[in-house]
Amino acid sequence: MRNTTSALPVYKNWVSLKLVIVPGVLALGTAVLTAFYSWLMIFPAIFLLMVLYFVYARYLFSPKGKNIQAELHSMLIEEIEWDGKGKALDIGCGNGALAIRLAKKYPEASVAGIEYRGFSEALCKQNAEIEGVSERVSFKKGSIISLPFEDDEFDLVVSNLTFHEVNDLRDRRELMEEAFRVLKGGGVFVFQDLFLAKKMFGNLDPMLNKLSGWGAKSVEFINLSESERIPNILMTPFMVGTIGIIKGNV
Ligand SMILES: C[S@@+](CC[C@H](N)C(=O)[O-])C[C@H]1O[C@@H](n2cnc3c(N)ncnc32)[C@H](O)[C@@H]1O
Repeated sequence: MRNTTSALPVYKNWVSLKLVIVPGVLALGTAVLTAFYSWLMIFPAIFLLMVLYFVYARYLFSPKGKNIQAELHSMLIEEIEWDGKGKALDIGCGNGALAIRLAKKYPEASVAGIEYRGFSEALCKQNAEIEGVSERVSFKKGSIISLPFEDDEFDLVVSNLTFHEVNDLRDRRELMEEAFRVLKGGGVFVFQDLFLAKKMFGNLDPMLNKLSGWGAKSVEFINLSESERIPNILMTPFMVGTIGIIKGNV
């Protein structure tokens, strides 16, 4: 049932405050040091520029700015080709924003979200209640490395900007094989991530071939690195400049 209070959902900004605070502290520290070593002068300027960049990036991603987080969710959702009947999973769901949007778009579906770092079931549930979909959305703590679900449980699996965050695997492309494990035959997948970052995912063609080897019947890559829906200033290699979508079915 829709909550009648004026409360708004709380979705964490993807640009963490750490990215502002750390260069801020370094700017101050190196500024103090320039009193003794004037040749250090360039460093406070560089760190200050970093602070300004990340403050602006936070603003652009937030609803008070250009709401780019919601825009990226829209870009993923628009690529889903699914009848909305059955169960969906969002891997690395954060505070539930994308899982909740799926539940709103597909009124006949039930949606699960799993999150590992900083998981707050209470906050996810509160957001789902505010958005009026709490009866069809559930949240669980779990890692994408070993999903806490049986084989063939879901009709749709999505993931947004989560794979690139996982560093404790030799080959992070194998995370997609784990996602396929929980998809039913004929099930649909749509993953949005920094797939053009070769250091993270290797070359595109071998990665897409691997997905076919792991059971994908169709695989398509959509290059979003020149999308006009994302401001140019965010299209840097350390933001979302290497973003793309891999979609298909198993
Ligand atoms: C950039 S955020 C995106 C959050 C969410 N997918 C969204 O679109 O709003 C990346 C998310 O991946 C999560 N994450 C990182 N490592 C994970 C893991 N091993 N298993 C599940 N989630 C993970 C992070 O905690 C974070 O919430």
